[in-house]
Amino acid sequence: MTETKQKMFGHKLAVAPMMDWTDRHCRFFHRQLTRRALLYTEMVVADAAIHGRREHLLGFDAIERPVALQLGGADPAKLAEAARIGEAFGYDEINLNVGCPSDRVQSGTFGACLMRTPALVGDGVAAMKAAVSVPVTVKCRLGVDEQDPETALDAVADAVLAAGADALWVHARKAWLEGLSPKENREVPPLDYDRVYRLKKRWPDRFVGINGGIGDIDEALGHLAFVDGAMVGRAAYHTPAILADVDRRIYGDQGAVVDMGNVIETMASYAGRHIAAGGRLAHVTRHMTGLFHGQAGARRYRQILSTEATRPGAGPDILVRAFETVARGLEETAA
Ligand SMILES: Cc1cc2nc3c(=O)[nH]c(=O)nc-3n(C[C@H](O)[C@H](O)[C@H](O)COP(=O)(O)O)c2cc1C
Repeated sequence: MTETKQKMFGHKLAVAPMMDWTDRHCRFFHRQLTRRALLYTEMVVADAAIHGRREHLLGFDAIERPVALQLGGADPAKLAEAARIGEAFGYDEINLNVGCPSDRVQSGTFGACLMRTPALVGDGVAAMKAAVSVPVTVKCRLGVDEQDPETALDAVADAVLAAGADALWVHARKAWLEGLSPKENREVPPLDYDRVYRLKKRWPDRFVGINGGIGDIDEALGHLAFVDGAMVGRAAYHTPAILADVDRRIYGDQGAVVDMGNVIETMASYAGRHIAAGGRLAHVTRHMTGLFHGQAGARRYRQILSTEATRPGAGPDILVRAFETVARGLEETAA
């Protein structure tokens, strides 16, 4: 049973979609740390994918793959069209956001408020499934506001899985749409992992993944005893070095060893190409400030990236120089 399921959707670890954070530069960087984790884009509103500047919104480097495009929207026809566009761009999966609580999203009546309309979400998934051949997945919450998570989550899960969703990721807390900011909505409503484990028992043959508050690879492994996948958001962003253990510890690739010197070298040359194309060093390095968190020299490394690397005209040599402040410590640890 597990074998078949994992063949259908084998992503035991994913980096969560995060607006303004998991852009293409961030994903390119994360891909240097793990070859196996599934990487998600920021949410792209279906209308924007259809009518907006597509290359700007959807363009990515093939090295980022496997990468999933997250869409926001509620209209099945538009979601299908946006999914088709995403597939043509080369995305490995299309994901529907049923969890974002921001006002902007609520005014468009999609994101977390779709927890109230499971049939509409099911129609959206069915339309996307009919439009593309890559997997179609959903990311949702336990419920919103006064909803009872026991019934609200089952209703959405039943609707989307019956419509053919290949995976359901559940952020294991409710969203409170009245009175909390999006940031508070990632912290204040309590986590309830057991609720997601129960959902998995209800759908033993389908992929159910968990998200919310997972701080490191040990915690991810703990969840994998109960569900099929673990999705890590803020911890992956703030302490990206945890991703360097994913291939070995989550996927069992014993030979997977990440050399941070090589990562910096690759990122410096990537940044060089980005700058040559008109971009700025900080577009790339802003995602890298937490890489050496907790190690000797990390403070100076971070300082260089948040000051010198942000100046106009800054070149990739600054990243290399920032790395020199931690490199000696890394060599000593390795010795
Ligand atoms: C800055 C930021 C932006 C986010 N943007 C999105 C988004 O676009 N789509 C989405 O489904 N969730 C979004 N989230 C929620 C995360 O995907 C994730 O569900 C949440 O952070 C809980 O996981 P964590 O505790 O591992 O961070 C965002 C979170 C953060 C911190």
